[in-house]
Amino acid sequence: MKNIFVTRDMVDAGLKFLQDKGLEVEVYPGKGPMPYQELKTKAREFKILITMLNDKIDREFLLENPQLKMIANNAVGFNNIDLITASELGIKVSNTPDVLTEATAEVAVGLTLSVLRNFKEGISDIDHNRFQSFDPKGYLGTSLFHKTVGIVGMGRIGQKTAEVFKNGFNCKILYTSNTSESSLGTKVTLEELLKNSDVVSLHVPMREENRNLISKKELEKMKSTAIIINTARGEVINQMDLVWALKNKIIAGAGLDVTSPEPLPTNHELLTLKNCTILPHVGSANKETRAEMSMLCAYNILDFLEGKNPRNCLN
Ligand code: DGY
Repeated sequence: MKNIFVTRDMVDAGLKFLQDKGLEVEVYPGKGPMPYQELKTKAREFKILITMLNDKIDREFLLENPQLKMIANNAVGFNNIDLITASELGIKVSNTPDVLTEATAEVAVGLTLSVLRNFKEGISDIDHNRFQSFDPKGYLGTSLFHKTVGIVGMGRIGQKTAEVFKNGFNCKILYTSNTSESSLGTKVTLEELLKNSDVVSLHVPMREENRNLISKKELEKMKSTAIIINTARGEVINQMDLVWALKNKIIAGAGLDVTSPEPLPTNHELLTLKNCTILPHVGSANKETRAEMSMLCAYNILDFLEGKNPRNCLN
């Protein structure tokens, strides 16, 4: 049986590292994500997979691949993998925490600035030659400085994002968390956070209890001047409810690095709204971070092959 299969061409620092250790690494040669059926069949030749966050590794997949020993997910989020079945079958699963914390915080803050300061409209006007002259009354956005930011989920990325808002922009921080306490701000209920924040930034993992965490009822609690930022997973927001809230000015804007599905269908209403900025899931997309993620996948695999528990083992 072969060693390691990588489901998509990726920054190859970690793959080279594994090859230098004498390990056989095969990479899917196709362009986009590997189709589910194709991956499920191909996986049968391997003991170890390096997967991407959009590879669905569900119960059916795992039951048909009991020869697998380990899956290194090239992402911090692991909602694409059925961890319970993997554990049942004795398949180790690892992820890539920490190394993408700053990168994702950058995108959360960047999206916030982009929405508050109308970057989308400005860039679109430039791209379409509509900018005629400096307009003393044009493109008026809202300042981020001194605003109240509500961080939903105070894990590693939530904390780093809070730190940037607080230290960079003198923002007041409110946060919700089931587990963490933080000196960066005040812990509140989700309801209090929604009512009092100018920016609501989502940082919860995609577990079933967080599906549609933000729906009509929650959006109605937000200030009409507030914006919502999502760098977590698309499923955390009910998107039809978000369309309703944005169209009816229940809230002022949204910045989404993640949607459900990805990409959205080209006729999706969210894509037509001026007050909604959408990015193509770029939270971890900088060269340094992607190289570190690649190395972390490799280190986890090497730990496993050396008989140790992978350093970022999830089960
Ligand atoms: C992850 O790795 O889970 C993030 O979504 C990257 O942006």
